[in-house]
Amino acid sequence: MTSGNLLTDNPVLYEARFPDPERLAGRWAEDCLRRYAAGPRVLDLGCGTGRDAAQLHASGRTVVGADLSEAMLAHARNRHPGPEYVRADLRDFSLGVFDSVVCLDSSLLYCHTNDDLDGFLASCRRSLTPGGLLVAEMRNGAYFLGRDDLLNTPRVNAFAWRGISYRSTTTLYVDRTAQLLRRTRVWTADDGSEPVEQRSAWRLLLPQELRHFLTSHGFTVLALHDGPGPRTEPPWQEGDLPGTSTEADRLHVVARLGA
Ligand SMILES: C[S@@+](CC[C@H](N)C(=O)[O-])C[C@H]1O[C@@H](n2cnc3c(N)ncnc32)[C@H](O)[C@@H]1O
Repeated sequence: MTSGNLLTDNPVLYEARFPDPERLAGRWAEDCLRRYAAGPRVLDLGCGTGRDAAQLHASGRTVVGADLSEAMLAHARNRHPGPEYVRADLRDFSLGVFDSVVCLDSSLLYCHTNDDLDGFLASCRRSLTPGGLLVAEMRNGAYFLGRDDLLNTPRVNAFAWRGISYRSTTTLYVDRTAQLLRRTRVWTADDGSEPVEQRSAWRLLLPQELRHFLTSHGFTVLALHDGPGPRTEPPWQEGDLPGTSTEADRLHVVARLGA
């Protein structure tokens, strides 16, 4: 058994495993930016493979995509050109001045501690023009209060890619002391390679806690809801309005720096 992050180390596999052929995430982010009249300069933090950054670029925005993973950045430059791609840690960055920061698919939840969240929001504040927007989409920590349907039971997923069959066994569990949702995923492939064990964790962030962090850093929350969004069921469609509840397993937030 070797350990690593099979998906972030293999961005092509990441896109095959989590396809977004209609570019819903990028289009949803663009819809938020338009709804609240954001200016053209966007920073996509935790940009991953660059799909969303490129979609925002195609919508006419000037985009910088930032990620910690060199493999993701190389893939983004190669496959999703248009934006500038740079290596940065979302917990402490200084990459210029932007009209908005977007942070999609739980990238924000790599801020595991309160200090990480403070670092992220202080960096956003430094990087945004007055009135600039923060748009984020992530798992909803509140979903796990009193529900264990996603927890503790291994889930198996199998798929084929380039003639190789992959199988992942994923277990999620709550670390109450660290306030983290921890994930263990074991990958096997029928190409003779060794199994790979991958561990990761997301902050279990509650909606009112997020609101408090944002207001403490000078943001006004414009929308905070569980959908519709790019990863909800049913998924967001053009013309859908932001919801008002925060019950379901995804959380969407739009906040403006200042009043
Ligand atoms: C689940 S992926 C989301 C990628 C992309 N936003 C999307 O929606 O497809 C999370 C990304 O966050 C990046 N990441 C993790 N920790 C980070 C950090 N501290 N700073 C910047 N990027 C980070 C990972 O390398 C990965 O590309």
